Amino acid sequence: MDKKSELLKVAEEIKQCKKCSLYKTATNPVPGAGNPDAEIFFIGEAPGYYEDQSGIPFVGRAGKLLDSALLEIGLKRSDIFIGNILKHRPPNNRDPEPNEIKACSPFLYRQLMIIKPKIVVTLGRFAMNFFLPSAFISKTHGKSQHISWFGMDIVLFPMYHPAAALRNGKVLEDFRKDFSRLPEVIKGLDREKKEAPPKQETLF
Ligand code: URA
Repeated sequence: MDKKSELLKVAEEIKQCKKCSLYKTATNPVPGAGNPDAEIFFIGEAPGYYEDQSGIPFVGRAGKLLDSALLEIGLKRSDIFIGNILKHRPPNNRDPEPNEIKACSPFLYRQLMIIKPKIVVTLGRFAMNFFLPSAFISKTHGKSQHISWFGMDIVLFPMYHPAAALRNGKVLEDFRKDFSRLPEVIKGLDREKKEAPPKQETLF
């Protein structure tokens, strides 16, 4: 099966999911959207009102800020993949609960396994803490790091959530600064890969 079909299969399973109660209050599931061959996978927290209405991630005000930041580095939505930790909207946009994150995480895991991005950009503390449970966003944003997550090697680049950037000028400044470094971080990864010594064959 190609990546697109595999992602559609995951989306179909998300539609049927009843592993937590959020499906009862949501209008539509928001499985994620974008390029199955993307090098960058953005992860937000959970769908909000407009995402719940449309089934598409980041279509509200935070999404517009994200689009303009992408444009500044020469990227469009169709170049990236974007999804959320939770695939159904929590009522009144309340914070995700641990049991909901646990129930939903296999979907994100499978999406990451299918797309195999070069870099995972987390937006906001919930997405960052999903991979780095004890990290603080004020200290960790804008720093890429290699992590091993359930057997997957991931390069993580935590950023502030665009909704937080819309509420606070200093956060907006950091958000834009971190964003502008993204192309350089990806180029650095390519260099790292080229320069890595070939794997030693074991003789015995
Ligand atoms: N905020 C998120 O974290 N995700 C969305 O899809 C929209 C807003």
